[in-house]
Amino acid sequence: MSKDEQKVLAASTAVDALIEEGLIFSGMKIGLGTGSTAMPAVRRLAQRISDGTLSDVKAVATSFQTTLACEELGIQVCTLNDRAVGGSLDLAIDGADEIDRENNLIKGGGAALLREKIIAYNSLHFAVVADSSKDVPSLGTGFALPVEIIAEARVPVMRELEKLGAECFLREGVKKAGPVVTDNGNLIVDCRWKSPVNPSEMEDAIDRITGVVECGFFTKNRPVVFIAQPDGTVVRR
Ligand code: A5P
Repeated sequence: MSKDEQKVLAASTAVDALIEEGLIFSGMKIGLGTGSTAMPAVRRLAQRISDGTLSDVKAVATSFQTTLACEELGIQVCTLNDRAVGGSLDLAIDGADEIDRENNLIKGGGAALLREKIIAYNSLHFAVVADSSKDVPSLGTGFALPVEIIAEARVPVMRELEKLGAECFLREGVKKAGPVVTDNGNLIVDCRWKSPVNPSEMEDAIDRITGVVECGFFTKNRPVVFIAQPDGTVVRR
């Protein structure tokens, strides 16, 4: 199975299993992730709404990409602050850039990590869908960790990140001159280490730097993960 086929398989398997287990249900408040694996999950959810399995689902989107998808697919979009949502969600479903053996994550390859983390950390349950390439033994040395920063603090923040042992790169836009500007108007610095790091300790250390808005280590609300395999099976962990 190709990587794209694995993404669709992981997403549909997860949505169907979570419906079966009562974790996705009518009337629920659901957080919807961003990226090429989260999108098939959004489409599967929309199918299960239109086939009548689910009704009155209130979605909170993690990015403009997800908001547009929900609008096109007819999924009701709310904000986390809407009275009907009340600042917490029943479940969030999202993709990831890397997943270690303890289900710690790196996220933010699509620059949506801030809203993704707000939603993941305010959800009772968290599910992640991925193809097999995302499953890694440790974090820090492979996919570069995205860190969302305030533009005015770029130089001091990059200096502090380097003190934590990271090599840092300001993310450049594609088909746009200059840096990537996030949905929240901030910049992204991508960080890589020479040897694996403790993601929970590093998440705390990075988030203490003045001028950092949020980093892409997700370690505080460990998800259930659905990882599709090249042979067409899905490993759940
Ligand atoms: C978006 O900022 C990310 O956190 C995505 O969830 C992550 O990059 C996974 O994206 P893909 O499913 O497109 O690989």
